[in-house]
Amino acid sequence: MAEKVGIVGVGQVGAAAGFLLAGTPGVAEIVLVDLDRARAEGEAADIAHAAAFGHAPVVRAGGYAALAGAAVVVITAGVSLKPGQTRLDLLASNVAVVAKVIAEVVAHAPEAVLLFATNPVDVMPMVAARQFGVPPSRAIGTGCALDSARFRDRLARHLGIGPGAVHAHVLGEHGDSEVLVWSAAQVGGLPLLRFAEIIGQPIAPATMEEISRDVRRSAYRIKEGKGVSNYGIAGCIARLTKAIVNDEQVVFSISTPMESLLGVQETCVSLPHILGRRGASAPFLPPLDAAEEAALKHSAGIISEAASFALASLDHH
Ligand SMILES: NC(=O)c1ccc[n+]([C@@H]2O[C@H](COP(=O)([O-])OP(=O)(O)OC[C@H]3O[C@@H](n4cnc5c(N)ncnc54)[C@H](O)[C@@H]3O)[C@@H](O)[C@H]2O)c1
Repeated sequence: MAEKVGIVGVGQVGAAAGFLLAGTPGVAEIVLVDLDRARAEGEAADIAHAAAFGHAPVVRAGGYAALAGAAVVVITAGVSLKPGQTRLDLLASNVAVVAKVIAEVVAHAPEAVLLFATNPVDVMPMVAARQFGVPPSRAIGTGCALDSARFRDRLARHLGIGPGAVHAHVLGEHGDSEVLVWSAAQVGGLPLLRFAEIIGQPIAPATMEEISRDVRRSAYRIKEGKGVSNYGIAGCIARLTKAIVNDEQVVFSISTPMESLLGVQETCVSLPHILGRRGASAPFLPPLDAAEEAALKHSAGIISEAASFALASLDHH
């Protein structure tokens, strides 16, 4: 059965996500919610006209009440990263915005899977779970699903193969402390570095560093060029939403609230999860080498601190 999907925050990211979702199988209706109602109305009409060239779900603007019965509500409301800012700088302003949004969404669509893209994207599911009682399976950050796609794309270009043939994940914070898991990366069941050697495209330590830096700096580089980053995250949102509405049970590196990880309490960082109609499974911790494990623990600590700061800032309101 095709489903209703809501998007709250119809700016650069929300509108691009809506545009892709209008062509996504399994989506019957898209409801766009924004403080700026005229903007939501304009985007809804524009997206509906594009969709009218193919398979056409209903696309409309609405208030929170229009989200009733939505399978997924994507949350992209907030301000975006300015050049030179880190995602954690955005914390205080966006947590206050997103807490207001969550309160409305859970009142009108209590069964929806909440998919957060607003930065800091790993803190928002913690706010949903700890402040509003949303189960961790339905409080999901897009997290490192996008970074993992960037990692696979970068490796694929080096190797001269399709990104779908590369199995590689980025774990941890969606941000500077993220962890590229080189030790478990594979192509065709072979360890990545061995495969690279066999096909004559070896990955020397300097190349590994260059690829890591490219992946980690992607968002900053995109913003230096065009001021915002929206299409990559929109592709990510559309892909994760497709997995949910079609109950695909596929594995993505996304973030859900966790009581503990590697001895860090109360955190929310990306790990592989199975994703389907009921939301995300419990996370899996893949085998890591010692340096990756230490880096993941460090990353989990950063989000744990940011989340406790965010929750305390809401208590003061
Ligand atoms: N997770 C990722 O990988 C990733 C990538 C890119 C951007 N982002 C994040 O996505 C968010 C949105 O970025 P953008 O470029 O679309 O920003 P934008 O400024 O273009 O759009 C934000 C929209 O949110 C709306 N909004 C603000 N407060 C609201 C509220 N209380 N209720 C409803 N709507 C509200 C605004 O009216 C605006 O239309 C930012 O936090 C940005 O950092 C995340």
